[in-house]
Amino acid sequence: MWTIWRINVLPLVVLFSWLCPSVSASVSYDDRAIIINGQRRILISGSIHYPRSTPEMWPDLIQKAKAGGLDVIQTYVFWNGHEPSPGNIENEYGPVEWEIGAPGKAYTKWAAAMAVGLNTGVPWIMCKQEDTPDPLANTCNGYYCEGFTPNRNYKPKMFTEDWTGWYTEFGAPVPYRPVEDLAYSVARFIQNNGSFINYYMYHGGTNFGRTAGGPFLATSYDYDAPIDEYGLLREPKWGHLRDLHKAIKQCEPALVSSYPTVTWFGKNLEAHVFRSKTGACAAFLSNYDPQSPARVNFQNLPYDLPPWSVSILPDCKTVVYNTAKVTAPRIHMKMTPVIGAFSWQSFKEQTVSAFDRDTLAMNGMWEQIAVTRDNTDYMWYLTDVNINPAEGFLKTGQFPVLTVMSAGHVLHVFINGQLSGTVYGDLEDPKLTFSSSVKLGAGINKISLLSVAVGLPNVGTHFETWNAGVLGPVTLKGLNEGARDLTKQKWSYKVGLKGEALSLHKVSGSSSVEWVQGSLMARKQPLTWYKTTFNAPPGNEPLALDMNTMGKGMMWINGENVGRHWPAYTARGSCGTCNYAGTFNEKKCLSNCGQASQRWYHVPRSWLYPTGNLLVVFEEMGGDPSGISLVKRTS
Ligand SMILES: *[C@@H]1O[C@H](CO)[C@@H](O)[C@H](O)[C@H]1NC(C)=O
Repeated sequence: MWTIWRINVLPLVVLFSWLCPSVSASVSYDDRAIIINGQRRILISGSIHYPRSTPEMWPDLIQKAKAGGLDVIQTYVFWNGHEPSPGNIENEYGPVEWEIGAPGKAYTKWAAAMAVGLNTGVPWIMCKQEDTPDPLANTCNGYYCEGFTPNRNYKPKMFTEDWTGWYTEFGAPVPYRPVEDLAYSVARFIQNNGSFINYYMYHGGTNFGRTAGGPFLATSYDYDAPIDEYGLLREPKWGHLRDLHKAIKQCEPALVSSYPTVTWFGKNLEAHVFRSKTGACAAFLSNYDPQSPARVNFQNLPYDLPPWSVSILPDCKTVVYNTAKVTAPRIHMKMTPVIGAFSWQSFKEQTVSAFDRDTLAMNGMWEQIAVTRDNTDYMWYLTDVNINPAEGFLKTGQFPVLTVMSAGHVLHVFINGQLSGTVYGDLEDPKLTFSSSVKLGAGINKISLLSVAVGLPNVGTHFETWNAGVLGPVTLKGLNEGARDLTKQKWSYKVGLKGEALSLHKVSGSSSVEWVQGSLMARKQPLTWYKTTFNAPPGNEPLALDMNTMGKGMMWINGENVGRHWPAYTARGSCGTCNYAGTFNEKKCLSNCGQASQRWYHVPRSWLYPTGNLLVVFEEMGGDPSGISLVKRTS
């Protein structure tokens, strides 16, 4: 945290001093708060990671954040966006030279967007927090936060990761967090000397392309954040938090110049009163009981406190806000089809077999990421199995059982070019085992295993050593000889798909092969590429692809990677009902049980031309493209 303030504040201030000459700031802190230009401030921050939206969305996102009462925006710098492979910085983000004043393209646009949202007073400051949790992280108010202990090294009490919701994981229900509980947590933190909070996320956005930061993480990074994945206000969350921020700011003079006096009305009932020497007074009246409302007497006046709520009184008299009383409008968003039936063409991805041209023959099983260098999700593991015509199973029809153990994440097993089965792990256990009888014939049989990685681990102990791919054992049981260990025999490898090598997702590449249309077009078949063209729908509502009839794969529009789709992985478990009162955890409030973890995939408007947009879908498992539609998001 502090490192980054040192690194990033300076160039930004320098930049703003010429963009906006009236703004420059000196920043320090004491045990109560961060001090900007000599004034202690209560700062409200929110995470908006710039690579998870498009530069065209940035000015609007930042203005909505500003309107929602944010003082600070936190962003991660995604190094792999700036330097996708060593030395390669000539891409849309440009170099990360934030600290030496030679800003890359992304920085320049982001800073310009920030300048739009800037007004006089508090400068907008980009900061990057440390990823390592503080060992003294305090449990605050219902959910854990990485924080600083008050007075430890005279740091102000801050927390930098307050989850507004949770990320979506393929195969799991989608968590959400009711705003009543979120507002309660923030208010409780502020009444306990907190002076800086950060919403993780304020706008989550989209993991475009293959950037999802972890195995099985979905393309959507919506996070149930106050600004949704599409850049629209999520109501009542956004509005209720804006009102909270307003109430907290009304208390700021008292908050920054005093410590609270705490009194108890009874069990679970507290008053935190901040009184400055100059006469400012602010009070927080809280009811920690998750069930019972209470009436308390504070400075000779009665106050009603709903269960699990904090009332804020910026003048120690008038309640301007209660965390449980939501007055912001509840707005339900809809996905309305705008293009219902695309006219598709298909191209069959070839199943590769061992010892094809341009495969790599090696002994034993190789780890996937080490071989692909993460340039693709896909790697083929190929071998041949020779079946003697005298094998008993050829007469009995009792086919032998192939068992394949893989470190993850997804495996498609092809026997002589036919899909024999698909297995996959999940975030908790990425490992998987395929075990099934397989139809083999006399002579040479081709075993082609397509192993698919779904994101790289990015947290955990020595995550860089976590494996993916078919590491074995691979065995065949039920032969005359008993079991045959295929692990030790010769394997061939092929990195990536043929369609990837041909760049079928781009206009140039897609015209290099013969596509099939009409009645001959492939449907519900594994390893198939689909393409179509369409005109941009009028209007400016955000757009998405409804992929509900598809299995798993990837989508591109005009060569831009929309992300991985995997609607076939439905959310396990039961979602139940959710009561905001009581300690929050990410398993408490869940949605989408029994449905696709992610059905809709954001298509940024800025990626579209008025006419003739190329949409390409690669499908691994078999899905029906006639069910794909383009939808708009409206209230
Ligand atoms: C606030 O900070 C003061 C000074 O460090 C401390 O005495 C007090 O206990 C803190 N109050 C709360 C509610 O944590």
